[in-house]
Amino acid sequence: MILSLLKERFRDALGDLADASRHDELLDLIRRGSDPRFGDYQANFAMPLGKRLGRRPRDVAAEVVDRLDVDDLCHAPEIAGPGFINLRVKDDWLIRRLAAAVGDERLGVGEVGSPRTYVVDYSAPNVAKPMHVGHIRSTVIGDALCRTLRFLGHTVVSDNHIGDWGTQFGMILYGYRHFVDEDAYQANRVEELARLYRLVRQLMDERDEIGSAVLAETAKLHAGDEENLRLWREFLPACEEEIDGVYRRLGVAFDHTLGESFYNDRLGSIVDELIERGIAKESDGAICVFFKGQDVPMIVRKQDGAFLYATTDLATIRYRMETFRPDAILYVVDHRQGMHFDHVFAAARRMGHDRVEFQHVSFGTVLGEDGRPFRTRSGDTVGLESLLDEAVRRAAEIVAVGDDAKPDGPELSAGQRERIAETVGIGALKYADLSHNRTSDYVFSFDKMLAMNGNTATYMQYAYTRVRSIFRRGDVDIEALRRRGVPIVFSLPAERALGLELLRFAEALDLAVLDYRPNQLTGYLFDLANRYSTFFEQCHVLKAETDALRQSRLLLCDLTARTIHKGLELLGIDVVEQM
Ligand code: ARG
Repeated sequence: MILSLLKERFRDALGDLADASRHDELLDLIRRGSDPRFGDYQANFAMPLGKRLGRRPRDVAAEVVDRLDVDDLCHAPEIAGPGFINLRVKDDWLIRRLAAAVGDERLGVGEVGSPRTYVVDYSAPNVAKPMHVGHIRSTVIGDALCRTLRFLGHTVVSDNHIGDWGTQFGMILYGYRHFVDEDAYQANRVEELARLYRLVRQLMDERDEIGSAVLAETAKLHAGDEENLRLWREFLPACEEEIDGVYRRLGVAFDHTLGESFYNDRLGSIVDELIERGIAKESDGAICVFFKGQDVPMIVRKQDGAFLYATTDLATIRYRMETFRPDAILYVVDHRQGMHFDHVFAAARRMGHDRVEFQHVSFGTVLGEDGRPFRTRSGDTVGLESLLDEAVRRAAEIVAVGDDAKPDGPELSAGQRERIAETVGIGALKYADLSHNRTSDYVFSFDKMLAMNGNTATYMQYAYTRVRSIFRRGDVDIEALRRRGVPIVFSLPAERALGLELLRFAEALDLAVLDYRPNQLTGYLFDLANRYSTFFEQCHVLKAETDALRQSRLLLCDLTARTIHKGLELLGIDVVEQM
């Protein structure tokens, strides 16, 4: 909120000095100061602006500062070096805002002035095969974005565009026909279908004719063959049950699960429309959309009449536009599909969907410790369930060691340990993913993700329990204290630094949705936890010098705990009260 206020004020001050269309770009150069001695925030736009205007940046900075009205918020701005504008927020302003946050469910974070409607397309596994490590990223990033956008007051429609109509069904249809173990199928459909899937995949690698047989089964399904459709309807619930189990464990839920099959009977008319409107044309028997300067077209109908992934995505866009009327559609999908989405978005714009923001929220690959895509020893993709189990198993060890080492002996029951381990294990896995810049690849490491120190969920959850334990030890009724409206006091720099950091929560959320990067939020939480550590080292809380200081510091502790709690919640991660 500080940053957005500063931006507003600077926007007014910039006025006609810069073209209004360039204001945002300049205002983006207002940043948090890197050295607290020079202030809390720094505006660095005078240099590029001076260059553009052919004037000395320092003069431009001086002119802006002259017009700038921040008296209520900051001390007099200082101009440094070539034209940096340094700003220091006034203590009484911080203190007022902190008091407001104490009494506010939302921790002082306002809702956006002009809410938008977002459709978020994420997770979207191809069902009929078990989910694997690659699905973590889309699922976890998409979920965090949905939660954060919603908290900021936007309308969010989450839609799991599952692959429930593709070749993988041809594979299990073929497998079922030839190799099903009826008893095993009756006993556990999910497991038997997974076995058939793996078996057929292996056979396809070995013999080409199996591949053709599978394609034939898929084509029959798409053409409405009754027997294949019947089997497909029988298989699908089992496949959904399988992924739902994973989602339950991850705490992820969708508003809609409209898979590829949902669009099947809309594909023909989309292609007709594309042809009629001159967007697509025939080439070598296939129907294609061509793009300027590109040799490779996007095919929407093959020579044999089959529709493609892209056709389904166009039908999906049409449906979403009509049904949800979104301002933006986000696709949280692997970066390797970049070209596909470029094409789909361009074609959709030609179809008249030119006002909506289409966004491919792409992400990199999960790597093994050897720096290559993460696989099992035998070269298979790593199953998601087994990763969750392993994370929880390791978390259980950490919880047990920690509990056994407590000065007065263990405090947790077996059941408590188990629940804590689940929360800590799954949290670690999610956070590890979210804390990496999504566009980079990252190395999957259980040791790193469960480290008690560092930018991990475990560190954050531990920080949370430590803060909360202060209230228990001091027998503090923190909720009552919140209501009493006692003032926050800055007696030492560490208190002010923590207070300022707490008020940056809103800023971190804005940054996280600005270009859809949850790592802005994890980075913020890490900074916050570190500020808190310093504060806790330097300031006595329960044994504070005066009662007023004690209460003020307890409230800073409480705000820290609540901010960590809320921040983790927006990332889809739970806290525990003890560990
Ligand atoms: N099922 C696809 C895959 O596994 C991802 C779908 C992404 N969403 C979309 N609308 N294309 O590659």
